[in-house]
Amino acid sequence: MSEPVKIAILGCGTVGTQVVRLLTSNSADVAARVGAPVEIAGVYVRDTSVPRDAAVPVGLLTSDAIALVESADVVVELMGGLEPARELILNALVRGKAVVTANKALLAAHGPELYEAADAAGADLYFEAAVAGAIPLVRPVRESLAGDHVTRILGIVNGTTNYMLDEMTTNGLDYDVALKQAQDLGYAEADPTADVEGHDAAAKAAILASLAFHQRIALEDVHCEGISSITAQDVHAATVSGHVIKLLAIAERTADGVAVRVHPALVGLEHPLANVRGAFNAVFVEAEAAGELMFYGQGAGGTPTASAVMGDIVSVARHIAGGGRGPRETNYATDEVLGIESTTTRVQVRILAADRPGVLAAIAQAFAAHGVSIETVRQQPADATSAGLVISTHSAQQSAIDATMAALQGVDGVGEVLSVLRIAAEGKE
Ligand code: NAP
Ligand code: HSE
Repeated sequence: MSEPVKIAILGCGTVGTQVVRLLTSNSADVAARVGAPVEIAGVYVRDTSVPRDAAVPVGLLTSDAIALVESADVVVELMGGLEPARELILNALVRGKAVVTANKALLAAHGPELYEAADAAGADLYFEAAVAGAIPLVRPVRESLAGDHVTRILGIVNGTTNYMLDEMTTNGLDYDVALKQAQDLGYAEADPTADVEGHDAAAKAAILASLAFHQRIALEDVHCEGISSITAQDVHAATVSGHVIKLLAIAERTADGVAVRVHPALVGLEHPLANVRGAFNAVFVEAEAAGELMFYGQGAGGTPTASAVMGDIVSVARHIAGGGRGPRETNYATDEVLGIESTTTRVQVRILAADRPGVLAAIAQAFAAHGVSIETVRQQPADATSAGLVISTHSAQQSAIDATMAALQGVDGVGEVLSVLRIAAEGKE
């Protein structure tokens, strides 16, 4: 067997602890798969005196990150956040160390700088755990589909919001109750903004789209809307029309360009994504030659995420033991990145309107005036004088939908546009 491959672990929280445990308990199998022993050189933490999980040998803890990075062949960054993670990863890459990270926020914000440093040094940069936790997704998109043309990705990539929306759908919970339940179960942070406002999903969408479309998609290119405005009434209306509401990360490539967005959307009950329950993740990929692919599993949690990190550690350690290098960034494509206004979508609109002659005709006229074709209309009495309307459209440009919604505010008899939800997928397509 070759010389031992030395692993520096930066961060010993939910994921780092489980990576230490798996590296220790699976060491014989890992060594056999790599072709060399794989040893933990140390675990960087802020305070070495803080009690840690029993799986983490106290003697491995260090508060000297630079010395640890220098002593290792592979640096596994599991601290999260932008700094000092960025600085430490760059420090490792310029020294030619392989890097494994689960840090989606860092990759979405500073990916190009990290890829360039990896290329300049000829070092591996692996990040399977950064998108959808345990689910093998980065590798399939980056490697298995590298000879195909990915046209669309539809993903449930945030478990917290999927859990909340599922509870609202299945158990009729209000948003606030679902959020509190997600916090009590440890899915949502005390400050849930990154999850409920879609920022976590947007970072994952930027990473996935960059890999799928072979061009750099920055976080600012991703249109982002969260679920904080979704009400129990929206969920009920979705159920009545045969849909569920999911927070989707959508990356599309059309003849006009590429578009990447995160927003809540209606998904038909027959579609595979509709049946993704609880905190699970799933990603539906469409490629020209492969057709439809679906990836499903646990998108978070210490042990599931550590599984993806372990896969990356084995891959880069194999290169160190046996030679070679993993895939580099490919960013040759130059498709225009479209703003949300240029994308096309179907929508379901809920309107509270006066229940008297001519109101429905005036509403229909507002849609027609902007070239938006109505597919279905459902009306129910709201009270003695007003009605709730649920209007679904055919596909239209987002800018035309926006103009229609603005025009509806001025239509005599329209009380309120209660919600506008995009319809992302119907049955199995
Ligand atoms: P965590 O539980 O908060 O642990 C972070 C660890 O990093 C802690 O040990 C913390 O030290 C250490 N740390 C943070 N900042 C540091 C600094 N400036 N200097 C030294 N140590 C520092 O985080 P996690 O949930 O394991 O997540 C780690 C990474 O995995 C993140 O990038 C996250 O996005 C990603 N990820 C997590 C999950 C998941 O389910 N948790 C899933 C997919 C990806 P202290 O112990 O001193 O606080
Ligand atoms: N907070 C994320 C989620 C997990 O709920 O899916 C890590 O990305």
